[in-house]
Formats: sequence, C-alpha cells, structure tokens
Amino acid sequence: MFDELLRYRSQFPILEKTTYLISNSLGAMPQGVYGALQAYAETWATRGVRAWEERWWTLAAQVGDEIGTLMNAPANSVSTHQNVTTCQAVVASCFDFSGKRNKVVYSDQNFPSVMYFWQAQQAHGARVHMVSTDDGITVPLERLLDAIDERTLLVPISHVLFRSAYIQDAKAIVEKAHKVGAHVVLDTFQSLGTVPVDVQALDVDFACGGVLKWLCGGPGVGYLYVRPDLGKKLQPTFTGWFAHQNPFGFEVGSNRYNEPPYRFMNGTAHIPSLEAARPGLKLIAEAGIERIRKKSKRQTSRLIAMAEQRGWQINSPRNAERRGGTVSIDMPNAEEVCRELLRRDILVDYRPAAGVRIAPHFYSKDEELETAIETIDEIVKEQTGVEKAAS
Ligand SMILES: Cc1ncc(COP(=O)(O)O)c(C=O)c1O
Repeated sequence: MFDELLRYRSQFPILEKTTYLISNSLGAMPQGVYGALQAYAETWATRGVRAWEERWWTLAAQVGDEIGTLMNAPANSVSTHQNVTTCQAVVASCFDFSGKRNKVVYSDQNFPSVMYFWQAQQAHGARVHMVSTDDGITVPLERLLDAIDERTLLVPISHVLFRSAYIQDAKAIVEKAHKVGAHVVLDTFQSLGTVPVDVQALDVDFACGGVLKWLCGGPGVGYLYVRPDLGKKLQPTFTGWFAHQNPFGFEVGSNRYNEPPYRFMNGTAHIPSLEAARPGLKLIAEAGIERIRKKSKRQTSRLIAMAEQRGWQINSPRNAERRGGTVSIDMPNAEEVCRELLRRDILVDYRPAAGVRIAPHFYSKDEELETAIETIDEIVKEQTGVEKAAS
C-alpha cells in the first residue's frame, strides 16, 4: 500500500537507527533542528543583544501563532510557556477562589502534574472535586458532567488521556460548563498533532499542551490558547514584564497589561526551545493533521488486532473514533518487556496501569509495527521460558 507520509522519514535521523514508536512521549527530532539551533547560536554570537529587537522578542508570539494555526486558533490567541503545569498556573492566577464559585472538576485520569497543581491550589481556596473512574481506560461522561455545577469555576481536563488515549467528548464538557458558568481548560498535549483540534468549533475557554510529543518540537515549549473575548478581560496575577504594555519603559507600580498573547506571558522567553520547536511545527502543518489522523487510526487498529491475536490485554479504546494515537498493551512482565525493547532499539515506554504504550506517528512504517509486536512476542516467550526453567 502506498503511504505518501513516508516521504517525511528522511527528515528524522533517529528513524534510520531505531524503531521509533514513542511519539506520545517524545516525538522524533526533525533534521532541521540542527540548523535551527546552529542559527540560534550564530544569532547570539554575532548579533548579541541586538537579537532581542531583531528576532527574539517577537518569537514567543510567532511560535504561538504557528501552534495556533494547527488548532484553528485566531492570530495572537496563543502564548508560549515552558510546560503545561505553568499554563495551568497562568490560568489559575486569572481567577479568585475565595468566593462561592471555587470548585475545580476533573477526573482521576488527568495527567498527574495537572492534578498535583490543582490539589495544591486548595491552599488558596480551590475546592477540588475529582471524579473517580472505573476501568482505567475511559471517563464516564455523565459522571463528569454531573459534577460540573453552578459552583464550578474551572474544569481542567485532558482531551486525550495519557494512559489509554481515550478521546473525551470535549464539546459536551464545554457545553455543560458554559451552561452553568464554568470554564474549561482543555489539555490538548495528547491530541494536537495526531487528533484534529478546533478550539473555535469547541468554543473552549482555554487549551494548553506542549510541543515535544506529537508536534515533534522538543522539550521546553508549552502553549496556552485563551478564547479571544476572555483574553481581553482576564488579568493573570502570575505575570511579569513580558505582559506589560510598555516593557521597555520599566515602569514602577502595577502591571499595565498588554493585549494577548503577551498578556498571558510573564518573564523572559525560552528562546532556544522556541527555535528548536519550529521545524517540527512546519512538518506537521505540511503533512496535515487530517492525513496524520487517518493513518494513525489505521496503524493503531492494526496494533490492536496483532496484540489481540496474542491474547494480550488492550488498555485503549477499541473504537478508533474514540482513540488517540497511542495503544496501551499489557502483557506478562510488561515493564521488563519494555526495558528489553529499548535495549533492542525498539523505542516505546511503560506506564503503570497502562502497560507498554506504542505510539506510531506519520513517519512510521507498517513493518515497524510488526517488528515491535513480533519482538514483544519473542521477549515474552523468552521470559516465560526463563521463569519455567527457574521453577
Ligand atoms: C496529557 C498530558 N498533560 C501534561 C503532560 C506534561 O505536563 P508538563 O508539560 O507540565 O510537564 C503530559 C505528558 O508529559 C501529558 O500527557
């Protein structure tokens, strides 16, 4: 079968040497990053402090727009930060938790860093309602919707769950939240780049994520979309001189907020990471999220079929429409199996309660899926053989 996306393989050096199936954790580095970081060093070395005026000051907003284009965000609605946890802190700092509307609703399938952040906000008046889930794969929608009430201020949830890749019904959650006057902070880390995200169609209040997984942008860049009407009103108290209307006035006193996206930033931007993120964003835009998604559904379905044939436990939704780019598969001694796969240059990861997470991307070949599954099979057999011999 002809796979037009495979022409991008030559852009990713690590694909020559490994079976790279871990884009839900760290996307492969594009070749272009070498040049981007070399150019960054050159700019610093030759332009020195003039680089701020000539390129760096506007880079944070420019990269925000490049990310925003991928999720149909209007220009200037996406600010850049170091990571998702920081994005949550910026959002939290826009609100007052001392009133009656102070409830924060999410499920136990949220990414832990996000939960740690919100749990800690209880010291500042937030009342956390964590919805328990049953099967470790899905979040019961009705249970989550029922928890969102007139006292709810914020609903910080994942679009695609990191453990199982279950796609939550973000639209229904946003609709319920808006009906009762709450705001949704949608974590699109595990969706943007592999599952279509349209922040305007969802009418979501905030969306945040990072570029290092499906966007192949490397560590160090998180993004925060704020719905433009909110962006005009909100005043984050986690703020700094990048958010000031006249940063080079170095005024004394309170911040006079700039327009978004700078309004949601704070201190000096992380320039090297922003430079390193751009080649990946360009490739994803070029490859196209619809095409990436179509291939991802086909490849993840293939992985599930091969794992089922071997009787392993599938900890991801079987319905491709409700599944993001990852398949979590549990098998005997999964953690050991993962370690051995890494040793054999088959790059995947292991997560408790998920098993081995396998995440092909647009650059993955079908043969690589077979290699991974056959090697797992081989390792499981070797290990069970070793166990039998020892007993
Ligand atoms: C859904 C989700 N949110 C957040 C994170 C990470 O958060 P942070 O950027 O704060 O490290 C991850 C994975 O690393 C994730 O899968």
